[in-house]
Amino acid sequence: MKKVITYGTYDLLHYGHIRLLERAKKLGDYLIVGVTADDFDKTRGKINVQQSLIDRVEAVRATGLADKIIVEEYEGQKIDDIKKYGIDIFTVGSDWKGKFDYLNEYCEVVYLDRTQGISSSEIRAQKRAISMGIVGDYAPVMNKFQSEDIYVNGIEIIGICTNNLEEMSDAIKNLSIVTNDYDVLLNNVESVYIRSNYNLHYEQIKKALNKGIHVLCESPICLNEDEQKELFEIAKKNNCILMEAIKTAYSTAYSRLLLLLKSGRIGRVISVDAICSSLLNRETTNINSFKDWGSTALLPVFQILGTDYREKRIISSFLNDNKNDAFTKVDFIYENAVASIKVAEKAKSEGELIITGTEGYIYVPAPWWKTDYFELRYENQTENKRYFYQLDGEGIRYELLTFVRSIQEKKNLSNISEEISYEICKLMSDFENGIDVIKI
Ligand code: CTP
Repeated sequence: MKKVITYGTYDLLHYGHIRLLERAKKLGDYLIVGVTADDFDKTRGKINVQQSLIDRVEAVRATGLADKIIVEEYEGQKIDDIKKYGIDIFTVGSDWKGKFDYLNEYCEVVYLDRTQGISSSEIRAQKRAISMGIVGDYAPVMNKFQSEDIYVNGIEIIGICTNNLEEMSDAIKNLSIVTNDYDVLLNNVESVYIRSNYNLHYEQIKKALNKGIHVLCESPICLNEDEQKELFEIAKKNNCILMEAIKTAYSTAYSRLLLLLKSGRIGRVISVDAICSSLLNRETTNINSFKDWGSTALLPVFQILGTDYREKRIISSFLNDNKNDAFTKVDFIYENAVASIKVAEKAKSEGELIITGTEGYIYVPAPWWKTDYFELRYENQTENKRYFYQLDGEGIRYELLTFVRSIQEKKNLSNISEEISYEICKLMSDFENGIDVIKI
């Protein structure tokens, strides 16, 4: 019996796929189809796949052409599969010509002509893209954010509102709408990404939501709890998505770390300690350690221990008139745990995250907020485990993808719950108003 194997993502199954499977089947007597797992696709840079693995497997099964379906999970698996199943022929479409010649050592390799004029990418792109405008003056962040747009189907950045066009990338300068008038931008887009001065957020978000425009806004969304509440209410009333942007929440390593904790791998969590620092050479009036770093550092505290703490204390070292903090430490006391964050823009420390448990701890080395790596550590070091996950675009592209899906599915799919958004806002507001703040 001649055994044939072929691999693919098979997202939104189309006649190009079916033609390929038909011809693959005709090459032998028994056809095995390998369908790529979501994680494997991610590491290959395919993050736009619309259907789940189960749906894609079902679609291939429904063609009736596969005698067996397997899942492709890791690099190098093809060789293992060929040996394991005693494969005679490996085949894929001609778009891969030459790429799999190395498999000739194990079986015959056949490239079949690709069907012209159709692909999953094109079908995905045909769904009309949601237009987006970006708002802000800080070029490094704006440039990075704009450049991530190409990885996400379903959204298209078409304009910018800024007062600092000179420092923006050429790609930004060439957007269709380039303006410093926020109203002009809002009149031409369906969604906005806001990375402006914190004091402008409330007005800018409110204006957008009142026009039915979806908003992705860098954290903290607001520095005042009542204002934030009002904004979420307007969003609900107008069927808009209002999503807080903290890219760390979308980094694969960080998300996996949270899942591992939930499965009890270090016992009960007793302490969360996060440090974020960047020594900045800015004017003193532009130093805002807590506002700039606080949300990121607070994220693991609230996501791991919740927001129901008993007490908190904010300790800050200010550069002038209680506004610009060089260094801030926040201590939390929970019923059965403690947490502490340290953030600084005029002091330097090791930017690590340590989660202490009753049976072991998790160590995330600096800079933990854009990490691709962490360790599970135990008393008995031979039980230690290391985890590595690719960090694509520092999490921004997954954040953008989540925003698009939220708009498409009309529900907030954010990794940051509304409750955590409120708690971050509350901390910011207390800091602004000097509540529970100790000056050093
Ligand atoms: N294929 C084909 N003709 C097409 C599209 C795909 O013969 N028009 C083949 C590919 O060469 C591959 C298999 O179908 O052997 C599965 O391809 P897959 O990557 O899942 O499909 P694409 O439509 O190419 O997906 P994408 O646009 O995401 O790359």
